[in-house]
Amino acid sequence: MKTDAQFWDRIAVKYAAQPLSDPNAYELTLERVVSYLKPTDRVLELGCGTGTTALRLAPHAGSILATDFSEGMIAQAEAKPAVDNVRFLQADPFSAALKPGQYDVVVAFNLFHLMEDIDAALAQVHTLLAPGGLFISKSPCLAERSLGVKFGLMKRLIPMMQLVGKAPYVRFDTIEGTERRISAAGFEIVETGNYPVRPPNHFVVARRF
Ligand SMILES: C[S@@+](CC[C@H](N)C(=O)[O-])C[C@H]1O[C@@H](n2cnc3c(N)ncnc32)[C@H](O)[C@@H]1O
Repeated sequence: MKTDAQFWDRIAVKYAAQPLSDPNAYELTLERVVSYLKPTDRVLELGCGTGTTALRLAPHAGSILATDFSEGMIAQAEAKPAVDNVRFLQADPFSAALKPGQYDVVVAFNLFHLMEDIDAALAQVHTLLAPGGLFISKSPCLAERSLGVKFGLMKRLIPMMQLVGKAPYVRFDTIEGTERRISAAGFEIVETGNYPVRPPNHFVVARRF
């Protein structure tokens, strides 16, 4: 875990400067998230990176606690103009600073494919949400077939890059596998989509039982 946080620390400045890889897919994702938010909602974001999503969602929520285990990513987020109802915090999903049952919505974009124990992480999201709360996630599903030659090559390169500290842990899961894990953790799936479709970055809105 520590090594991976250091990986993200190292690339935080570069990550902040990168343009969005697919602006249309990002806008569509935000539109879908906003359609679920209420002005009183207490939102927790996990793996918030440089804070862009939290700042975009802020006008539609009561409060947003945006967390990331990388000090460097949180520093990039805090360097942006402050917004009253958004707080950034260096924390992972299991941090004691996050209180059980205190959040109406938990958002995690491009995070769960990076978590080694995804089932424990999903169980923790369940614990953090208030009953009836929503888990809204988006994760690349890199075990889907027909991702093309470029992704096939990238998949082969990742283990070598990990050996020299140039890539973090990456999970290869399918859309079906991702949804099965979310359901098994005690959620009812209420909406899904792929933004973008290829490679599929799988969007799931799921309600905590
Ligand atoms: C691919 S970036 C995504 C950032 C942002 N959510 C986005 O969509 O642009 C993954 C982020 O998750 C964070 N991260 C990775 N593993 C984490 C963990 N176990 N706990 C908390 N944050 C984590 C990284 O530091 C990084 O900022």
